[in-house]
Amino acid sequence: MDMFERPRRLRTTPVMREMVAETSVEARHLITPHFVVEGTGFKDEIASMPGIGHVSVDELVKEVAADLELGLKSHLLFGIPDKKDAHGTSALGDDSVIARALRELKKQFGQDIITVTDVCLCAYTSHGHCGFLENGKVVNDASVEQLAEMALAHARNGADIVSPSDMMDGRVGAMRELMDEEGYTDTSILAYSAKYASAYYGPFRDACDSAPQGDRKSYQMDPRNGREGVLEAMLDVDEGADMVMVKPALAYLDIIRRVRDEVMVPVVCYNVSGEYSLVKAAAQNGWVNEAAIVRENLLAMRRAGSDLIITYHGRDALAKGWLK
Ligand code: PBG
Ligand code: ZN
Repeated sequence: MDMFERPRRLRTTPVMREMVAETSVEARHLITPHFVVEGTGFKDEIASMPGIGHVSVDELVKEVAADLELGLKSHLLFGIPDKKDAHGTSALGDDSVIARALRELKKQFGQDIITVTDVCLCAYTSHGHCGFLENGKVVNDASVEQLAEMALAHARNGADIVSPSDMMDGRVGAMRELMDEEGYTDTSILAYSAKYASAYYGPFRDACDSAPQGDRKSYQMDPRNGREGVLEAMLDVDEGADMVMVKPALAYLDIIRRVRDEVMVPVVCYNVSGEYSLVKAAAQNGWVNEAAIVRENLLAMRRAGSDLIITYHGRDALAKGWLK
């Protein structure tokens, strides 16, 4: 008789391994980001994010139609306005690039897609901060009022989910209250809860032309802190968040796990631009197998506890069968 266990029995054949697999990544788990610009007929690849582009609203509709064919139904929209000012006023109203994108997507696809909008001022402010800048400081409460108005404008124009990424305190509660008052009780909130001040956002800031004067360390989280990430998620749930997010993903898998164990709402992670660009660059050099790396990374995020993943890899992964 052997004196040891034989876990290899369950790894003998592909069918056996498939039967006992604990985790999977499927199209329904993925949310696809889009960078939407003003104008028409515009589509241009972002240099630091191969395969990802800036699109005008008409091109966005085509992109989403193609994504739908692949099974990608959830779409996260970032707006890149022509005009920026100190208070990010082009983020408000029914004429913003996002408001127009939402109306067009809902006209074309209705309830066949989920529209998620990024709610933050950094792409709309001349100083590039996520809130109002007063005497060199990013102020909280005045910023929250503006962010709530931005969320309301998105809800009014067809956002299924609004997603605040600014990291001001109290913004989830403020958004919930304003949207409820105005009758948008069914619009969900996906809160960027544990959002770290990260170098992994580099390519995104190029894409959105949103690099701030100085840094975001007075509002985004310190990478040295884990407990605080759990606290942020719990506070957002208390304020009415329907889902919470951990961002970035790969360097913060421990936070994903801890948040998953602590809250009862879906946990989303954001596989951010820098994580994407690192994989793309290495793959283009032939240094790693892109298919295998992408599958392994996405599986790791799911295994750590992410219910959903925001990722730029979704299109390639599904079109090329990398997730099987
Ligand atoms: C804006 C925002 C950022 C990202 C999502 N929303 C950048 C930042 O906070 O500087 C990062 C997304 C990515 O890197 O893919 N608040
Ligand atoms: Zn921001």
